[in-house]
Amino acid sequence: MKPSSLTTKIFLDSGDPAETKQALSILGFLDGQTTNPSLIAKNPQTAGKKFSKQELLDFYKGIVGQVSVLIPQGSVSVEVYADASTKAEEMLVQGREFNKWIPNAHIKYPTTSEGLKAAEISVKEGMRVNMTLVFSQEQAAAVYAATKGAKKGQVFLSPFIGRLDDRGENGMDLISNIIKMYKAGDGHVEVLTASVRSVEHQVRAIEVGTDIITSPLRVLKEWKEEISNDKFQISNEIKNPNLKPIQYQEIGLDKPWQEYNLAHELTDKGLERFAADWNGLIG
Ligand code: E4P
Repeated sequence: MKPSSLTTKIFLDSGDPAETKQALSILGFLDGQTTNPSLIAKNPQTAGKKFSKQELLDFYKGIVGQVSVLIPQGSVSVEVYADASTKAEEMLVQGREFNKWIPNAHIKYPTTSEGLKAAEISVKEGMRVNMTLVFSQEQAAAVYAATKGAKKGQVFLSPFIGRLDDRGENGMDLISNIIKMYKAGDGHVEVLTASVRSVEHQVRAIEVGTDIITSPLRVLKEWKEEISNDKFQISNEIKNPNLKPIQYQEIGLDKPWQEYNLAHELTDKGLERFAADWNGLIG
């Protein structure tokens, strides 16, 4: 059972239904799961295997189908294939298809101009979306603007904190900054902390008020142990002197989404990595 004091939704970040079962048995609940092409490539059943494009899609469908059955009340994020040249229309075709796979899908689109075009239409069509590869407040503002009118729970925003930490920036600051910026809004976008690397990330993201957090099984296990051993306590800020603070920017939420600066090097690199991991399975 989920403690009633814990209002943050807890997701597993994994492409393996065996881990969903383990997370459920460790925590006693799970509010959702996020997948992506790299996580699918890590599924033990793909080891040493090559797929045709159709076989790979069928495999992905099978995985999310199993996860969906395990957490029918939860949300399951399914990511479209996109590289730098993928147009919104191609993403939409995938999104509409993936949305039919399971009843509880959130379709992951990259936070690029093409991804936002696809998301804007998807939301109008009543689909749920999870905007991924978010690394800046401007991108978060654009997602807010592009999805105005969406129902609560329909739009997730996934800032990747671990990948910012990896290059020496304090990723957790981005979460706090976005939450602060969204306070001026109507609450239709939920902040989903992603790219979580440690139990400190887990604890701190909950403290700063993230709506959702997705974490690898290893982190969920450690976190559960901390709670059970009563070691769980309010941490102070993640004070890593090696991490450069990310300053809050005064950004309004009222502009058309096309007017926000969507560019971020890590979004481009992230797209490349997802595409490479997916294509690496095809042969
Ligand atoms: C989940 O939605 C993200 O795709 C995932 O957390 C990315 O994590 P990584 O930075 O460890 O690859």
